[in-house]
Parts: sequence; C-alpha cells; structure tokens
Amino acid sequence: MAQQKKDAPIGMFDSGVGGVSVLREAMEMLPGEHFIFYGDTLHAPYGTKTREEVLQLSCSVAEKLISMGAKAIVIACNTATSAAAQELRQTYSLPIIAMEPALKPASALHKDGYVLSLATPGTIRGEKYQQLLQKYGEGVESLPCPGMMEFVEKGETDTESLHRFLTDLFAPYKGKMPEAIVLGCTHYVFLKRAIQRHFPGVPLIDGNEGTVRQLKHMLEENDLLAEEGSVGGVTLLSSGDPDAVKLMEKLMNSKE
Ligand code: DGL
Repeated sequence: MAQQKKDAPIGMFDSGVGGVSVLREAMEMLPGEHFIFYGDTLHAPYGTKTREEVLQLSCSVAEKLISMGAKAIVIACNTATSAAAQELRQTYSLPIIAMEPALKPASALHKDGYVLSLATPGTIRGEKYQQLLQKYGEGVESLPCPGMMEFVEKGETDTESLHRFLTDLFAPYKGKMPEAIVLGCTHYVFLKRAIQRHFPGVPLIDGNEGTVRQLKHMLEENDLLAEEGSVGGVTLLSSGDPDAVKLMEKLMNSKE
C-alpha cells in the first residue's frame, strides 16, 4: 500500500498555464516523480473573481486530482492559495503545498527605496498577503495587475501590446527604480524579460523555489517520495481550450 502511494502522481493546478513555471522547477528538483498538471483554463482568470468563486473552483479541481490518485497537491497559483489553501488542508488528509508571494526574500533587499510587488487583485486583497505585508511590508508598493496573466495565456510574452500594457501599468513608477520586484503570480514568471525591459537590472523574485522545496520536504516527511530510480513524467491537462496544452509544453521549455 505504501509502495503504491509512493508511485502515485503529484497533482498540481493553476487557473491556467502560469503554474507551469512551478511545474518545471518541481520536475527538475524531483525527477523521479510523475506530475499531473491541471490548468483550469475554462475558468481563468481566478485573480479577478471573488474569494468564494475561487474557493469553489479550487475545491473542484482538487477533487479531480484526488480522484486521479494524487498523493499530494501543489496549488501552483497565489490566488487559489489565498482563497482555498486553508480549506483544502482542513478537508483532505493528503499534503497540500501552496505558494507564498516572495515578500520575505524581497525584504532583505529593501534599504531606503521601495519594493514593487505585483500580484492579482484577489491575492493582494487576501488575508495571507495582508499578513505577510504586516511582517515584511516595509517599503512595499503593492500593485494589482488585472489583465496581465491574459498575455501569458495567449502566449504573448514579448509583444508590442504587452509592452504597451506594461508601460501604462508602470507609469506611476516611471523614473523611480525599485530595489526589487516581487512576482506574486505564477504567470508573471514568464514575463520576466518583458518586465525587465521596464526596470533594467532590478532583481525579480518569485516564490517558486520555496514552494518546490516545501513539496520535497512534505513528501519526505510523509514517506511519499518516489523510489530511487523511478522514471518521472508529466501529464498536462486543460479544462478549456485544448490548445492550452501545447502552450504549456512550449512554456515548460522556455528560458526567461
Ligand atoms: N497564476 C495565478 C496566480 O498565481 C493567477 C492568475 C489568474 O488566474 O488571475 O495568482
């Protein structure tokens, strides 16, 4: 039975393709694991929905992944983490690993300027983010970015319309270089190069590595790590447009 569980896949989900930025790091750190990545593209974006809506959507995706035999679930989405991590942990006994906007590591770079934190409106409104702000929020400017994840969903990571969008979004900060930029949404990792064009040389910090380290730790602690020598892999699923799977494949191999 324990053996069977170790062989079971890890379920991972996001509102769309953004969580692939977490997936590819997880596959690198845990090459023997099999992942099922579920992009809820039919219901994207999550970031502009109410907490209740995101909670409901996240629960139904988690249930699907559990019915597919997942031994652990990774919420590869800051918005869903904020709306649903607590409830999912209360409901299911399997390990639930979630994101954390990287305000803590960014705070180490704060001196006398400011840290620009980019996330969805849902994440910024959420309790988890507000609690982090209380601890690590000195000098942090939180910028909600509705409409930004849609560029990644369309496969636009370096187009003129994206640059126009970013020029408008960053207009209030023009000429005021931040000390660090927090990428508080898993989609934004794919926009690193585009964001860097507006803020050259500024460190961009995401929470992906911390989440993947936590996943490894939880698997070890629960004796769920795949046996040594296991050959890992990935199954990519999209609840909406099947073409999203092709985009996920492309993003898995992209370099920012
Ligand atoms: N990728 C998601 C996150 O990390 C959300 C994007 C969205 O659906 O609005 O917050």
